[in-house]
Amino acid sequence: MFSLETFVLFLFCSNKQIHIRIMKLLDQKTVVITGAARGIGRAIAIKCAEAGANVAFTDLNYDDNMKSLEAELTKMGVKAKGYASNASNFESSNETVTKIVEDFGRVDALVNNAGITRDNLLMRMTEEQWDAVINVNLKSVFNMTKAVQKTMLSQRSGSIINISSVVGVGGNAGQVNYAASKAGMIGFSKSVAKELGVRNIRCNAIAPGFIITDMTAQLPEDVKKSWYDKIPMKRGGTPEEVAGVVIFLASDLSSYVTGQTIHVCGAMQT
Ligand code: NAI
Repeated sequence: MFSLETFVLFLFCSNKQIHIRIMKLLDQKTVVITGAARGIGRAIAIKCAEAGANVAFTDLNYDDNMKSLEAELTKMGVKAKGYASNASNFESSNETVTKIVEDFGRVDALVNNAGITRDNLLMRMTEEQWDAVINVNLKSVFNMTKAVQKTMLSQRSGSIINISSVVGVGGNAGQVNYAASKAGMIGFSKSVAKELGVRNIRCNAIAPGFIITDMTAQLPEDVKKSWYDKIPMKRGGTPEEVAGVVIFLASDLSSYVTGQTIHVCGAMQT
């Protein structure tokens, strides 16, 4: 049960901005995040550490990005470790989760965040572009969820959070591979929620809209502006705004929320 004593809210008001820092919501919990060396995954890792969680995270290479995140999280006073692991590879995912359980002792939340785009019109899309996106975005979710399942079953608790997309709900021209992978994540989440609910393991999807990261920064300015025009809040979201919803779903605040898709999109899709 979530205890109010452990929920400490610091409210800082400066100029017109209000920053709410939620501490201790994930105290004693271990969170595993895939593809966290940069972008949304990195913001999720930092916010989880702020909330008191120990953080195990993966990315393709043990490079400077990964090392700097490891150092940043450790400085925040939590246990943190980065693992070079390809989430689209079944064996690599299994081996990584085995190491994480050895190092951390438990897995309370898994955030399937690793993702790529290989956009093209269906007419021009190659088999490689289709396979790459399905393997990294969707197969990875199967690999990692299967790998943590045994640990969560023996703990009799767990929260699996899949970073899908509004494109998985509404579709998008030029992204049949990406939309199919993200829609697949939603179907997977609903099914896991129904299969493992009885064991107190929850599974939800988050559908971000247009979030400003390396993935979207490379888009031409006119394309970005056309996206912003379609968003009722008239701006892109930040990785931290997605991370806030991850904290909710990973924490006991959401103990009866499962099988759902939460949109984080400034009402771009309602
Ligand atoms: P990003 O490209 O900035 O970061 C993705 C990370 O995943 C990178 O660090 C990359 O190295 C890693 N990665 C790629 N393939 C991997 C693999 N096989 N195994 C392990 N790690 C791998 O992307 P961003 O924007 O941070 O996106 C994160 C997630 O959010 C993705 O699943 C993306 O589809 C989703 N998303 C992003 C939106 C956006 O507007 N940026 C909108 C909706 C969803």
